[in-house]
Amino acid sequence: MIEGKKVRIRAIEKTDIDEIMKWINDREVMDNLIVRYPVSRYQEEKWIEKALDESNPRIKAFALETKDGVYLGGISLHGIDWENRNAEAGIVIGKKEYWNKGYGTDAMMTLLDFAFNRMNLHRVYLKVYDFNLRGIKSYEKCGFKREGVLRHDLYVNGRYHDSIIMGILKDEFKKIPNDK
Ligand SMILES: CC(C)(COP(=O)(O)OP(=O)(O)OC[C@H]1O[C@@H](n2cnc3c(N)ncnc32)[C@H](O)[C@@H]1OP(=O)(O)O)[C@@H](O)C(=O)NCCC(=O)NCCS
Repeated sequence: MIEGKKVRIRAIEKTDIDEIMKWINDREVMDNLIVRYPVSRYQEEKWIEKALDESNPRIKAFALETKDGVYLGGISLHGIDWENRNAEAGIVIGKKEYWNKGYGTDAMMTLLDFAFNRMNLHRVYLKVYDFNLRGIKSYEKCGFKREGVLRHDLYVNGRYHDSIIMGILKDEFKKIPNDK
């Protein structure tokens, strides 16, 4: 278990699939991720198998829950580059009633602490779409800085959108006061 202030990051269980299927095809959630096509239970089960495959050292994927044990979604480090010590972070809170309550920021801070102080990574980055203002605000609160823009990287809902690359270095994370 990796304990945050409001959340707990834990191993994914195969039984999490029932909760995941409640939101995996919700466009309001998934338009923020790189999931364009409807996802079947079989496909999601295969994704979980892949994420849990310990022979792949480049991905560490976890489940995210409240301290009371309410399943919220998932959080991960992928594309882990052990030589250059960087990784891309991903997060999804599928239960929309838990948005805007600080769970995402706490989860990302908890993941960053784990990445920098347990895994000894040096840089964590992520890609967020320009319309995801909630995500951008949350990442800024964690200390991520805007590093670049991929123009017209995504086509969704009839138009192109930019992707923003945000990143944080280990030294910068240490400077963030604990109360953030
Ligand atoms: C992105 C996500 C992880 C953020 O988690 P969260 O728990 O909702 O976020 P938090 O409550 O910690 O922080 C959100 C902040 O954005 C602010 N916010 C919300 N909507 C906003 C908007 N339209 N414009 C500007 N700020 C906004 C909130 O007020 C809050 O800031 P505050 O605490 O200073 O008031 C979560 O909403 C989520 O999983 N969304 C769907 C999937 C997704 O977008 N994944 C990330 C892809 S990069």
